[in-house]
Amino acid sequence: MSNTFSNIGWIIAILVFIGAGIALFINARRARPEIGSEIELAPNRKPFLQDDELETTKLDRTLLLGLAFLAVIGVTLPLYWLYEPARQEGAVQQMDATFVARGLKIYDETAKCAECHGPKGVGGAKETAILNDNGDFVSQVKWQAPALNTVLYRYSTDEVKFILNYGRGNTPMPAWGAPGGGPLTEQQLDSVIAYIRSIQLPASEARAELDKEIELVCKPERQDDGSLKGVNPKCTVNDPTSPNKQKSWNTLGEALFNLGYYDGFSGGAFSCARCHTKGWSYGQAENPGGGFLGPNLTNGSELRQFETADAQVNYVSLGSIAGAKYGRGGLSGAGQMPGFGKNPNTDPKAGLVPPVQKMDATQTMYLEDQIKAIVTYERGL
Ligand code: HEC
Ligand code: HEC
Repeated sequence: MSNTFSNIGWIIAILVFIGAGIALFINARRARPEIGSEIELAPNRKPFLQDDELETTKLDRTLLLGLAFLAVIGVTLPLYWLYEPARQEGAVQQMDATFVARGLKIYDETAKCAECHGPKGVGGAKETAILNDNGDFVSQVKWQAPALNTVLYRYSTDEVKFILNYGRGNTPMPAWGAPGGGPLTEQQLDSVIAYIRSIQLPASEARAELDKEIELVCKPERQDDGSLKGVNPKCTVNDPTSPNKQKSWNTLGEALFNLGYYDGFSGGAFSCARCHTKGWSYGQAENPGGGFLGPNLTNGSELRQFETADAQVNYVSLGSIAGAKYGRGGLSGAGQMPGFGKNPNTDPKAGLVPPVQKMDATQTMYLEDQIKAIVTYERGL
């Protein structure tokens, strides 16, 4: 688009230049009468139009011409202003498309995010060597990398920027930004975030995938009217002969807490255990909820941290804010606990680069009932 505009600009500039040249040339020729002929050739010596001709035809024609020019200006000025908002919006979209295209290139080629997080951020896993405290090789594992096509459901763009800047220590996720000693510039990070935003799933699609997975691994007990039985219903996929036997859990809360453990659903993006259970991400889960990146949730610690289940549901829904207090004695470090029930990017101006597309409030990881089931499970750990 900008090319067409600059082409038109060039053509006009060249035409004006040529026209001015011709005008100068003609003028220079006219302005060289023979010496001594000023009297005969002086323009004011030429007889001009008669009064009646001057005051009718000539005057009318000049006035009409003026009116025509005025009409042209009168029509084009409002037209220009009418078109202006669309033009500006187009420019922003154009800029966004440029960012997204650059981000895709970084995601697929420069930084190879896709090798771990999957093409279009569907989630994946990466071969990694596990070392002991002395740095000796222990085993080769596949470490789950969470889906990024829902990452803006649970983190604000600023939080994503923080994770990109510093990576996740003790996991295969490296630091990418200069503050963490990584190779990408701030501009490149913004481009990657623009690309990530462009691949966020519509709420209906994410919900459908999640519902299908829950049916597969849990099939929660329901009442006759189809509603869930109790706040943390039993899972009914406990049949030892079922092909999904090993994917079964006792309750809906436990199933959601561990979603993706056996089959890598969404790279573990929906699970809590990838941060709260050591070894979970590479198929060697230790004490459930015993703590890893996130704190230990066992031995009644959550009953002490949150006076009521509702307060805990609220916290899990919103996630943590860097440096902010929570619960009764919680202090968030880097704010890395994601929000599972409220989308943090619904404000169009909240750090989106450029801010053309806000997210929908229905784009959340879990529904309130599902968070309640998880919290009930956690409070029993
Ligand atoms: C070598 C593999 C690898 C590469 C390359 C990689 N990541 Fe990661 N990334 C991971 C793993 C593994 C995690 C989860 C770490 C954990 O267990 O907490 C992660 C976590 C993340 C998270 C946090 C998501 C969440 O919900 O916790 C974001 C955002 C992210 N990566 C973005 C990126 C982007 C963007 C790139 C490319 C610039 C990238 N990653 C490249 C492996 C990788
Ligand atoms: C990406 C890592 C990550 C994931 C995934 C995660 N958490 Fe957390 N969680 C944290 C961190 C880190 C904290 C500590 C607060 C902070 O530093 O922001 C925390 C804190 C908590 C706390 C408060 C614990 C206390 O005693 O102070 C609860 C409760 C909690 N998480 C529940 C959950 C639930 C439920 C899920 C899944 C729906 C979940 N978390 C998924 C990282 C995570």
